[in-house]
Amino acid sequence: MSEQPDQQTKKPFLYVVVCASGIADDVGKLITAAQEAHWDVGVIATPQGLGFIDTTAVEAQTGYPIRSAWRSPGDPRPLPPADAIAVAPATFNTINKWAAGISDTLAVGILCEAYGFGIPTAVLPYLNSAQAAHPAYRQSLDRLREMGVLIGGYEPHQPKAGGGAAHFRWEEALELLAPKVSRRL
Ligand SMILES: Cc1cc2nc3c(=O)[nH]c(=O)nc-3n(C[C@H](O)[C@H](O)[C@H](O)COP(=O)(O)O)c2cc1C
Repeated sequence: MSEQPDQQTKKPFLYVVVCASGIADDVGKLITAAQEAHWDVGVIATPQGLGFIDTTAVEAQTGYPIRSAWRSPGDPRPLPPADAIAVAPATFNTINKWAAGISDTLAVGILCEAYGFGIPTAVLPYLNSAQAAHPAYRQSLDRLREMGVLIGGYEPHQPKAGGGAAHFRWEEALELLAPKVSRRL
């Protein structure tokens, strides 16, 4: 049987999960790179993360409302289902909650369920070395790795030294996901 035209032209859908990090306002770089790689993109921000991004600009760029809170029962789903997820930038807080299964924000709830759904997921942590020194952080990364989550290579920056935005490679999320996603679509 031949495919319907809309199935032939449908682009894969990427969820970009944005956390409350000082570099979150550059998330447009990842959205642009993903769109150039023929993804449709929807953004899910943590409640704290919402305050770190230009919501109007992000919604204009993606064409979808930013999700941050759970919808009311019976409301339509604002975004199509995800073919892949990029968590960028990922905070210390969200990484630890995700690994522990503490689903107290929509963003972490989606990430926790993504494992069960088998949705390819990449995370680009962005944090300082004092945060990364906490033993929970290493354990969280180990658990996420065991879950099959693809983890970016950003080395935590020195605290109180201006961060490392220049070394943060947004496009790494797409590079990590590419082999997993081409097999699924
Ligand atoms: C200006 C500012 C920048 C921050 N940048 C980071 C960051 O880059 N990485 C991080 O892990 N936490 C950062 N934090 C702390 C997080 O915002 C805080 O832990 C927050 O609770 C994270 O919420 P979320 O994980 O739900 O997004 C920053 C806080 C502020 C005020």
